[in-house]
Amino acid sequence: MSCDFLSLALPGVQKLSPYVPGKPVEELAREFGLEAAEIVKLASNENPLGPAPKALKAIQQALPELTRYPDGNGFVLKQALSQRFGFEQSMITLGNGSNDILELLGRAFAMPGTEVVFSQHAFAVYPIVTQAVGATAVEVPARDWGHDLAAMAAAITPTTRLVFIANPNNPTGTWFERGEFEAFMAQVPEQVLVVLDEAYTEYVMVEDALNGFDYIDRYPNLVVSRTFSKAYGLAALRVGYCISHPQVADVLNRVRQPFNVNSLALAAAVASLEDDVYLAESRQVNHEGMRQLEQGLGELGLQWIPSRGNFIAVDLGRDAGPVYQGLLRAGVIVRPVAGYGMPNHLRVSIGLPQENKRFLDALAGVLAGE
Ligand SMILES: Cc1ncc(COP(=O)(O)O)c(C=O)c1O
Repeated sequence: MSCDFLSLALPGVQKLSPYVPGKPVEELAREFGLEAAEIVKLASNENPLGPAPKALKAIQQALPELTRYPDGNGFVLKQALSQRFGFEQSMITLGNGSNDILELLGRAFAMPGTEVVFSQHAFAVYPIVTQAVGATAVEVPARDWGHDLAAMAAAITPTTRLVFIANPNNPTGTWFERGEFEAFMAQVPEQVLVVLDEAYTEYVMVEDALNGFDYIDRYPNLVVSRTFSKAYGLAALRVGYCISHPQVADVLNRVRQPFNVNSLALAAAVASLEDDVYLAESRQVNHEGMRQLEQGLGELGLQWIPSRGNFIAVDLGRDAGPVYQGLLRAGVIVRPVAGYGMPNHLRVSIGLPQENKRFLDALAGVLAGE
């Protein structure tokens, strides 16, 4: 081949490394000759309960319509979100997962010569989105693994277009409170969009925790993104959304694909949103699983970063790579986070009680065998 196609790509894209997802169960089964049923996957912050029963029923009902394009405006889901959270439909943008929303924001508002601010150890998609559009990434050093919002505000310059903040953040599970957020927003110029990524917010079981939706009216430059992939258990269907000023939503609507959310996802998301019993159970299972993991890790003499998500970053005190490999051999998939500048940590998603136990037992075995 005489043509170097890579050299034809945008300069930012040439330097990109693809997002590394958690290892799929089938891949591990193939590699180690294991049965898929014996493998425990705690690597992608998925809901261990499986989808909501009401969502499965809605999908069944939507199947006969698969020959038709979905509603490109997602009216029924927007209506359900509007009723649930009290925002006009003109303030809602639907995405093919909330990743899609993050990417739309990058494509619409960032470009070469502009800057995008995010924290060290923040969600991997922020730098990818930034680089893909040729904007300059400004990574602000974390404080105690979490966002240093004061330093992030100080990092804003006249060329800053977007600031990504995650509450709680993935992979650290760290969070910030209302007061810190308000102090931060007070420093952000009105032409800089702040994207508050609340992918895990439904898991937060702390009274008076920051809820981005409370601030949409106060800050026109605030965009709050959420997802159905986590507590609502629909990761495979890819559906997320953001709430913003209608003008921001209008801009996003111009760049999104016409049918970016498929009809099964739309139907299932509406049903999940109505399934309060499922959501409550998801939260409770996560809450108890977090306690189980914290206790087990404590008994193994390990440290971890306190987390408000559905995952926990465990500090192994040295290169976590060999422990990750040892866990794989034991049929347990967790997530290495060296790519996030955390080579000594492994991120473990909260599973069902027996899955958490499998992980803890396997970890004890791996550590003892070293
Ligand atoms: C912080 C954060 N934001 C956004 C997402 C995107 O999730 P999805 O595209 O499935 O909505 C994730 C997924 O892991 C995440 O951890």
